[in-house]
Amino acid sequence: MIDQRLKSVVRDVYDFPQPGIVFKDITPILKDPALCKAIVDAFEARLQADTIDVVAGIESRGFLFGLMLAQRLGKPFVPIRKQGKLPYRTVAQSYALEYGEATIEVHEDAFNAGARILIHDDLLATGGTVAATSQLVQRLGGLVAGYAFIISLDFLKGKERLADYSTQVVSLAA
Ligand code: PRP
Ligand code: ADE
Repeated sequence: MIDQRLKSVVRDVYDFPQPGIVFKDITPILKDPALCKAIVDAFEARLQADTIDVVAGIESRGFLFGLMLAQRLGKPFVPIRKQGKLPYRTVAQSYALEYGEATIEVHEDAFNAGARILIHDDLLATGGTVAATSQLVQRLGGLVAGYAFIISLDFLKGKERLADYSTQVVSLAA
């Protein structure tokens, strides 16, 4: 099962980036091409592709599999970036995450109004990052089609924050 493969590969790093945080390091996944393919296969199998028009991936770890997933589904990819990185006109949203605060942005012409957006990130913790992304999607007239995570830290209750936006939540390992 893919959850067991992921659990055996993802590395816990204690007290990074600050004391008290157990950081899930996904970089060992990237050294295993077969596992990378299995992740995209699992997303494809578990997502309802006919409900998705666009895949949005969140900087930076959400870029790694976000574009691969968009390619597999044959859908456009939209980068959600940290403040000050996107060159064209943007809309911005500030938020809190497990270990700090940040602001994310998206280009104002990233997708058409009414588009159904699948939000992808490597990991769901408190849900602050994807809740802010969901707000950006809605502010641009998009609809949140669902969420795809490699890992969700269920003890942080992030999924509870997503229920108002979409019930399609795929997570490959807890
Ligand atoms: C991490 C992770 C998610 C977010 C999850 O990103 O990739 O985007 O934290 O936390 P939350 O559910 O509490 O909001 P980070 O901001 O560390 O950026 P990075 O991907 O560039 O390392
Ligand atoms: N983002 C938020 N919390 C995290 C954690 N514990 N490990 C990796 N990325 C994270």
